[in-house]
Amino acid sequence: MDIDFVRSRFIKHFDGSTGSVYTSPGRINLIGEHTDYNGGFVFPGAIDKGMIAELKINGTNKVRAYSIDMKDYVEFGLNEEDAPRTSWARYIFGVCREIIKRGGKIAGFNTAFAGDVPLGAGMSSSAALESTYAYALNDMFNCGIDKFELAKIGQATEHNYCGVMCGIMDQFASIFGKAEHLIRLDCRSLEYQYFPFDPQGYRLVLLDSVVKHELASSAYNDRRKSCENVVAAIQKRHPHVEFLRDADMAMLDEVKAEISAEDYMRAEYVIGEVQRVLDVCDALERGDYETVGQKMYETHHGMSKLYEVSCEELDFLNDIAKACGVTGSRVMGGGFGGCTINLVKNELYDAFVEKAKVEYKNKYGRLPKVYDVVISDGARKLC
Ligand code: GLA
Repeated sequence: MDIDFVRSRFIKHFDGSTGSVYTSPGRINLIGEHTDYNGGFVFPGAIDKGMIAELKINGTNKVRAYSIDMKDYVEFGLNEEDAPRTSWARYIFGVCREIIKRGGKIAGFNTAFAGDVPLGAGMSSSAALESTYAYALNDMFNCGIDKFELAKIGQATEHNYCGVMCGIMDQFASIFGKAEHLIRLDCRSLEYQYFPFDPQGYRLVLLDSVVKHELASSAYNDRRKSCENVVAAIQKRHPHVEFLRDADMAMLDEVKAEISAEDYMRAEYVIGEVQRVLDVCDALERGDYETVGQKMYETHHGMSKLYEVSCEELDFLNDIAKACGVTGSRVMGGGFGGCTINLVKNELYDAFVEKAKVEYKNKYGRLPKVYDVVISDGARKLC
């Protein structure tokens, strides 16, 4: 996907003139899943797939938006009561509203956008869209909003206009991404550190199960609620526990009788996962990719059996990775479908990908999609 393609559509759909072009990427996450809204750590990186949007101020108070991929046009105003029904347009509308709520003075604009982040594959196409518009509008209208707040604008859009009570990871990675670096983010303090990621002898590859996940289908929000239930129970004995990140297994066991078996399992996963991110950081500093891989398998097991956000197809892909001797593999992102992320030795790569394709096709009648991971830069202006 390139600028010229978006530009040609922009020119065709609007008055023939050009505007400014911005982009923001999707993300991978090496480890630290469902830890962000628990105040824990995540370890994402931006990828070379994202959204590209062209925008031009149109001198009215209306946004005229064209989705090139959906071939769909929506027009809306900037007041709360002007919210569009069309789901893709709600992301743009939400970003506009969240900027306005923060004192940003924005007005109507024409825009066309397209993307190559696969939808529903766990690579955060929605964060890419939000971050593109948050970054672009802040820049075009000189709102003076800092990068953290831009990420929070995307997150608030999900919460207030799209019904997903997500954490900050996806929008943060999309805004702050840096080529060849992963980012360890402390989701409580928002302190972050770039880690050069150049695993000599290994590659990261995503296998897309092509099962579409639907985070908004409330399962994601239910997981978050479970975590909050457990924090509320632990807090009665340990008032300093603000997030599950502050809890340990001993605290969880103290409240076992007061919480549901399901909530217990959810919290057990999160407590383990918060620790795994730290273990992976240590291992990376030693160049110990075998430990990184082992932790990825542990995460998959927890996401599948305790947090229950995997699915049969993803478990199947994970089993193939294990059988092939792949160093690490796990379901990535929110879950309920989407991709596995695999850390694989160069010499195993071809055999693994081939075997995964053949066996997946035999079992489910369709091929998984294969995406090589290229860690790239975050939101920026292209021209
Ligand atoms: C989705 C959410 C993120 C995060 C992940 C799971 O991608 O948007 O905030 O919770 O799921 O790690």
